[in-house]
Amino acid sequence: LHIGVNAQKTEDISTISEKDLTHILEKNRSFYTQGKVANYIPELGKMDAQSIALSIVGKNGKVLNVGDVGKKFTMQSISKIIALMIAVSEKGEAHVFDKMGYFGTSQPFNSFSNLETSGKPLNPMMNAGAILTTSLISGDGEKPFLKILDMVRYITRNQTLDYNKSVYESERSTGHRNRGMFYLMKNNGLISGNEDQLNNYFKQCSIELTAEDLAKIGYFFANGCVRFDGDSQYKNAEIAQLIESQMLIAGMYEFSGEYARTVGLPSKSGVGGGIAISVPGKMGIGVFSPALDQHGNSLAGYHMILDLVKQYHLSIF
Ligand code: DON
Repeated sequence: LHIGVNAQKTEDISTISEKDLTHILEKNRSFYTQGKVANYIPELGKMDAQSIALSIVGKNGKVLNVGDVGKKFTMQSISKIIALMIAVSEKGEAHVFDKMGYFGTSQPFNSFSNLETSGKPLNPMMNAGAILTTSLISGDGEKPFLKILDMVRYITRNQTLDYNKSVYESERSTGHRNRGMFYLMKNNGLISGNEDQLNNYFKQCSIELTAEDLAKIGYFFANGCVRFDGDSQYKNAEIAQLIESQMLIAGMYEFSGEYARTVGLPSKSGVGGGIAISVPGKMGIGVFSPALDQHGNSLAGYHMILDLVKQYHLSIF
């Protein structure tokens, strides 16, 4: 295990070349053969396992893109950090975390056994806590989802982003486990609304974007909620720090500890095959490759990040 402790860290992306990124991508391309495309949401099973992309966004909005740069995929669990930002800015951190924990986990993303014991979700990164978080965003019907979509459009500066209706329908019609958690939390007095709130969660997971968009999300939280082009209308170091800490301890679910040891960067994965990574104060990274490991994290994506971190000494530790 070579991580490059104490080596000179890379401060911005001007020293990173597209040629080096292509090398990293090609070196890890074949990892998709060892992973599995998510098919518990039937529509996700249709993704092309061979597509792969890597994107980095640095200061002044400088972007490096390699691989299938235009390829769109659904953000899935990466939407949970956006929902958390909105819920906390509306209700305050104390209100949100009175209903769930700041805990890490040894359990998979869809585990909710602790709802039976402590009564509350472990954290806002696992499905139970994320469904609850979205239910805390104010507004009737689709309004909370539209706030999440608008925020993703703002952060990526891409007003054309939308959700994929077939993926949404597929999730809604097969997501009985998520529906089970929703009603258990309603039973526990944590959720007060109706199933529109669960549908908002399914919709946010179905928002489609590219690896570059993920890099811009990574950049946003890495830089105190300041956008890649310098726009600072949502600037909030406190919320960015909260979200980065959650990404670090639970963003990769039960793999988060090993990931912190080997990569050492706040990151959030989604079963669509994307990972958004924040290099605090510096840059944002987005990776995409749909074949997943047993934890539901992109396998080639993880290996690309591992190589990037080693080569440019990006770990926060
Ligand atoms: O709720 C679900 O199961 C999916 N919509 C999202 C799960 C997910 O992305 C887990 N992350 N790796």
